[in-house]
Amino acid sequence: MTFVESLAEKAALDLSRSKSVVALTGAGISVESGIPPFRGKGGVWEKIDPAYAHIDTFHNDPEKVWEVLLKGLKDLVDRARPNPAHEGLARLETLGVLQTVITQNVDGLHQMAGSTDVIEFHGSFAWHKCMDCGSRCPNSELDLNRLPPRCRCGGIFRPELVFFGEMIPSHHLMRSEQIASECDIMLVVGTSAIVQPAALMPVIAKNAGATVIEINKEPTPLTGTISSYSIMGKAGEVISDIVAELELIMKPQ
Ligand code: OAD
Repeated sequence: MTFVESLAEKAALDLSRSKSVVALTGAGISVESGIPPFRGKGGVWEKIDPAYAHIDTFHNDPEKVWEVLLKGLKDLVDRARPNPAHEGLARLETLGVLQTVITQNVDGLHQMAGSTDVIEFHGSFAWHKCMDCGSRCPNSELDLNRLPPRCRCGGIFRPELVFFGEMIPSHHLMRSEQIASECDIMLVVGTSAIVQPAALMPVIAKNAGATVIEINKEPTPLTGTISSYSIMGKAGEVISDIVAELELIMKPQ
């Protein structure tokens, strides 16, 4: 048995004894679905200046932000399908083990995999909103032949995601804080855990006495500090291992 396998077994055992489990996910969970992370090698911010993700830049030059950042993001989101990590978290819900996913991702892949209680902390790319009349347009119907995409009223569409410089919707923030403070296990999957206030959720969970289990390809600021233990590896493989171990534990003898 490898070290990772034994940690997957430990996580499965901890999950089998838990009452309330929440997962906090980040871009790393969607890497195996073909969506690059933001930071690190091959990350979005290596090629594109993160200033393009700031709301002031969008207001000043929406055409440029659609051209440089959002058009490419739409292409990626349109093509992506859930991977074994998203499916594994949905399976944990079916098994009655995981209640809620708090995701920083805007790709909708948790819902596509079958998770039913997903807090989209940074909003979603599924819908776009006219900045003039407030009409909403589903992503599948957005016309990008001319940029920026426009509403019938002539107003410009923006994705319903949280740009840098914008507040997290207060209902998402409050519910996430509440759930983090009440869970007994938080799975932290594929996030660099440096963007606030999302990165505060594991700290809230830890301070309230929860076990924080981190799943990531590399160490983060949580590793060895907030995380009770870390399982280093690809999210798809690690979560599949955990689910397999858990199914063995839960199988009627
Ligand atoms: P990051 O790109 O900052 O971090 C991705 C994390 O996933 C890193 O810690 C990687 O080591 C890890 N990772 C990569 N591939 C993995 C894999 N296959 N399995 C497991 N882990 C893997 O993404 P986030 O933490 O989600 O905000 O970034 C947070 C926020 O910063 C985003 O929501 C976005 C961004 O700017 C906004 O747009 C508001």
